Amino acid sequence: MTAKVLNSGNESGTWEPSGLNELVEQPPNPEMGDYALPCFSFAKSLKRSPVKIAEELAKNLQSILTPDSPITAIQAVGAYLNFTISPVAMAEVVLPDVFRGTYFKSPSKIAHERVMIEYSQPNTHKGFHVGHLRNVALGDSLCRIYKYNGYDVIGVNYIGDVGAHIAKCLWFFRNHNTETPPEYLRGEWLGELYSQAVKMLDDAEGEEKVQFQQEVSQILQKLEAKDKEFTREWEMTREWSMNDFYEIYEWLDVKFDHIFYESEVDEEGRKIVIEGEQKGTFELSQGAIGINLEAEDLGFFMLLKSDGNTLYATKDLALAQRKFEKYGVKRSIYVVGAEQTLHFKQVFATLKRMGYSQVGQCFHLPYALVMLPEGKMSSRAGNVILFSRLRKEIIESIQSAHLVEHRKDWSQQELDETAQKIAVAAIKYGMLNQDSNKQIVFSMNDWLISEGDTGTYLVYAYVRIRSIGRQISSEVSADVDFALLAHPNEKKLLRQMLDFNRTVLNSGEQYRPSLLARMLYEFAKDFSRAYSTCSVKHAETTQLQAARLLLFHCVAETLLQGLYLLGITPPERM
Ligand code: ARG
Repeated sequence: MTAKVLNSGNESGTWEPSGLNELVEQPPNPEMGDYALPCFSFAKSLKRSPVKIAEELAKNLQSILTPDSPITAIQAVGAYLNFTISPVAMAEVVLPDVFRGTYFKSPSKIAHERVMIEYSQPNTHKGFHVGHLRNVALGDSLCRIYKYNGYDVIGVNYIGDVGAHIAKCLWFFRNHNTETPPEYLRGEWLGELYSQAVKMLDDAEGEEKVQFQQEVSQILQKLEAKDKEFTREWEMTREWSMNDFYEIYEWLDVKFDHIFYESEVDEEGRKIVIEGEQKGTFELSQGAIGINLEAEDLGFFMLLKSDGNTLYATKDLALAQRKFEKYGVKRSIYVVGAEQTLHFKQVFATLKRMGYSQVGQCFHLPYALVMLPEGKMSSRAGNVILFSRLRKEIIESIQSAHLVEHRKDWSQQELDETAQKIAVAAIKYGMLNQDSNKQIVFSMNDWLISEGDTGTYLVYAYVRIRSIGRQISSEVSADVDFALLAHPNEKKLLRQMLDFNRTVLNSGEQYRPSLLARMLYEFAKDFSRAYSTCSVKHAETTQLQAARLLLFHCVAETLLQGLYLLGITPPERM
């Protein structure tokens, strides 16, 4: 599965899966073994049924089961050859390295292939709301995962700072606004003006409507002609939006290596299209320029308006060219809503016609909408949850539901930082634990529940594990008797740690941080089970206590690493 997904877009051949990882699966229950090798693919070359092959392999391999072999059982189950691994062997492979901090690295052999991940891409002069957070969480997590997997990652933003929406916003700002801009959150305020502008334009009728539309299109023309006065106003207001965005990213602990602006690729885009028309790659159509993509079943793709002004598409050609030529990008990932799927198909097909072989490595990662329990968010219906409101409400809710008992003994700074960490965990995890093609229903209250599939639960689990160490007077050491970790619940934890790096690799190659999120949730639940059956504090012997202390320490480290890859930093206590 992994190999297939990757190969569809990979022409460089740098990918070398570590053979076994690609082949083995997990049996449905642990009694059947730890790993299962499906024998279907051998049937053709061996000219035997997969069931027969599994049986024969199981029989022939019994001889490797010596008393000190890491494999303790081999059995055929249907068409699968199942292996059981001893917990000691797992512990020996995992625990010393986790303890030393050398365990967390990818099994892939990717040698610094350069990948650009474009995400967030908000439009200035519009409000930043809950829906925008899904993109940020996905893109940021993918950046972290790809880095982990050995790629040379460049995380970029691409700000929508030109176009009709700006003309509408400025039109309202100049002609209809009566308020003075607030000191703080000016970008969000501009977004409100934009919404009011849209409503006013929609609601207008007859002559008035015509007049409004003319006014807006004059502003657009002035902006496109780089009129001094309008350009100054555009720059000033754009900065208001950008200041809001910077603050949001900082709060979310998200960093970009570079920020592109639509306005900076505008000219370049126009040049590319005009040259393409002269070369015959593109064609004139009623004064406009476009490309006929009928052969690819993608219709006619407009690239330049008849008045010479650029389109969203025009700029995407220039942006892609920059990515390939200036940044030498091998793989290029665009995290953009599913509603733009056709647009990206057309952009990629056009780039291919222009001769860019890198297109094979371009990937649009679409994601579905974020809904509210009562339905779709829409600024018309007035039920959009803007970021600042979300932040305020979630922090208040965390302060009162989770941190109240610490008010007396914690500093204000620790209270604030802890609330922020829980908030970011709840939001990002909620945005990542679903596959990106599924809609998400955002519900702050559900996401803050400390039991169940939430980020809040995961950070609680982490804090609980960390507190074990504080209850024990001895230091964690890797010099323990691994054979003592023989409880099935302990083995489950070892097994999860053994699979950790592979899960991260798959999450990246399949563009699915949800795989990692799911693994961490199972891991945290397995920890709870192990914690109730395998007490550290009440361990029968000091040796057993030391072994469990090491195990749980490593569980905490693994959880910390996994959460980091989802963009989450848990607090150390709460
Ligand atoms: N700013 C755009 C929007 O809000 C998204 C940009 C996506 N990236 C791109 N290269 N077209 O719809």
